[in-house]
Amino acid sequence: MPHAPRLPQHLIRRDLAAVPPYVPGRPLSDLQRELGDVPITKLASNEGPYPPFPAALRAIADAGPEQNLYPDPGAWALRDALAERHGVDPALVVVGNGMDSLIKLLCMALLEPGDEMVMGWPSFVSYRQGATIQGATFTAVPLRDDGSYDLPALAAAVGPRTKMVVVVSPNNPTGGTVGARELEQFLDELPPHVLPVVDEAYYEYLPEGGHDGMALVRAGRGLVVMRTFSKAYGLAGLRVGWMVGPPGLPEALAPVRNVFDVNAVAQAAAVASLEDAPEHMPGRIEVASAERERMADGLRALGLQPLPSSANFVFVEVGEQRAAALDRALTARGVIVRPTAGFGAPGGLRITAGTPEQTDRLLHAMGQALEETA
Ligand SMILES: Cc1ncc(COP(=O)(O)O)c(C=O)c1O
Repeated sequence: MPHAPRLPQHLIRRDLAAVPPYVPGRPLSDLQRELGDVPITKLASNEGPYPPFPAALRAIADAGPEQNLYPDPGAWALRDALAERHGVDPALVVVGNGMDSLIKLLCMALLEPGDEMVMGWPSFVSYRQGATIQGATFTAVPLRDDGSYDLPALAAAVGPRTKMVVVVSPNNPTGGTVGARELEQFLDELPPHVLPVVDEAYYEYLPEGGHDGMALVRAGRGLVVMRTFSKAYGLAGLRVGWMVGPPGLPEALAPVRNVFDVNAVAQAAAVASLEDAPEHMPGRIEVASAERERMADGLRALGLQPLPSSANFVFVEVGEQRAAALDRALTARGVIVRPTAGFGAPGGLRITAGTPEQTDRLLHAMGQALEETA
């Protein structure tokens, strides 16, 4: 087939060459095609192994016949349900096509060339991309040794051009978490010209006494708290994230927001998930935390040193060459983990906690892969 001439280089924004594209975890079907009958264990994208809650599955089926209609652009049922569950003002709740979409919206609405985003690093790469796309400066602050954000160092890095300071806790890819009290102290210390953003994508996995961004919002603090239905709720495929921020934020995002950002099936499934969560969430979290610890113990027994994690994954630093070799050796055995170069940790592997059987398969394959790559 004849091709049209290649898109001329001069039509493409030159500054985007500085934005490395996000490299997602390898899809299961992709590796299945390559390996044939070998059972595939996907522990690469922190979704967790469980399907949507029963009420969400029913809502997904029920929503089918109405898909000839556009979704509610205001997502009112979902925003009301979230607001009621968390005791916040529904007018301040913004939903998006995954948190990823909201991260980009925040960057588009707030950051201009010359502005600065301050963030811990290695961490979730979407923030860095969002800042770079806007031509803003991205200032990376090293993590503490346990893989958590160094909040005093983060506060010290804030300067006159800083607009956004981002705290990801539990952090992706390392799993480290900041304390509730230290987070409050950090917020107290920030100058009024910056907007703190707290990423709680893995909030549901935090142990008792962990930080709770919604409590800070209810206390009237000026910050953005972001959460997602992609992880503990098992709705990664439908793409629903949400955030709450200070008054004025929803209006600030309106010009850059896609009006039908969250589709109708996703809205219905998210509302139903909230109804089912009290019954089904605790058991799910318990299994995920137990498997994470069993996986960490097993990795330690194999001579690796996983960082402490309060999320549904663990991180191990193995060195750059070994990370690539282990990734290849595990993939050949049907186990997909996540090399973390794209997150700023080129020598790391991030492994999602799965079912007990998946943990067994991972540990077995890791034992063989370590021998093969020694
Ligand atoms: C820390 C963190 N923030 C945000 C996201 C994006 O989540 P979503 O699936 O809602 O776009 C992820 C997903 O991996 C994450 O790990």
